[in-house]
Amino acid sequence: MKIDFHSHILPGIDDGSRNIEESVALLDMMSEDGVDIVCATPHFYMHKVSIDRFIENRNNAYEQLKPHLKPEHPKILLGAEVLYNHALVHSEEAGRLCLQGTDYLLWEMPYTKLTSDIIRDTEELSQNTQLKLMIAHIERYLNFTSYNELSELMRLDVIGQINAVSLTKFSSRRSCKKLIDDGFVYVMGTDYHRTNSGHALLGQAEEVIRKKFEPRMIERIAHNGEKILRNEPLHKLRCL
Ligand SMILES: [Fe+2]
Repeated sequence: MKIDFHSHILPGIDDGSRNIEESVALLDMMSEDGVDIVCATPHFYMHKVSIDRFIENRNNAYEQLKPHLKPEHPKILLGAEVLYNHALVHSEEAGRLCLQGTDYLLWEMPYTKLTSDIIRDTEELSQNTQLKLMIAHIERYLNFTSYNELSELMRLDVIGQINAVSLTKFSSRRSCKKLIDDGFVYVMGTDYHRTNSGHALLGQAEEVIRKKFEPRMIERIAHNGEKILRNEPLHKLRCL
């Protein structure tokens, strides 16, 4: 099964799709790419909006889009890309932001050096609640923090997601390869925002994996994704 775990396809809710037409165009591209399920993960910024309001906005955006969906479109699961916030760590409400039908939460790190406080907060969130943390586009933080600091985060009881586009670009492919080899990457997402935002489809990333890496990784990624949707834990192994 081909699952996109990270996207901004819902209309008018964040810096992703601007309107229904753009959402439909994004879904058309994804269905042509053979995507079965796409997780709609609008940005959630706790300092800007309450969880109640966010969920209301997200549901409204989805309801507006629904009549325009085509049978060939991927199935949409609702979720959120939750930016790190210390206040969320001890909040009993954080679970409401999980991917629909699961306890998996897409957790976005701040674009700064990953300090011991941030890493400790993430550890506490994963230990003190039922949540299973999926760290969003782990390769991107290497622009802000060292590989060692990122490794420290990824050695926690968390799983990593990478963006398809990072595999297709020569400049980021090497760091993705290292993250994969170190067992930190479990699933992929497109993180698609706008039709012209220069992202890559999952199929393009799979092509790179097939040619440059190990073709069996594609099966592993699919297997991991299916387990997540069944809300099963992923064991901390070299999962790719
Ligand atoms: Fe995103």
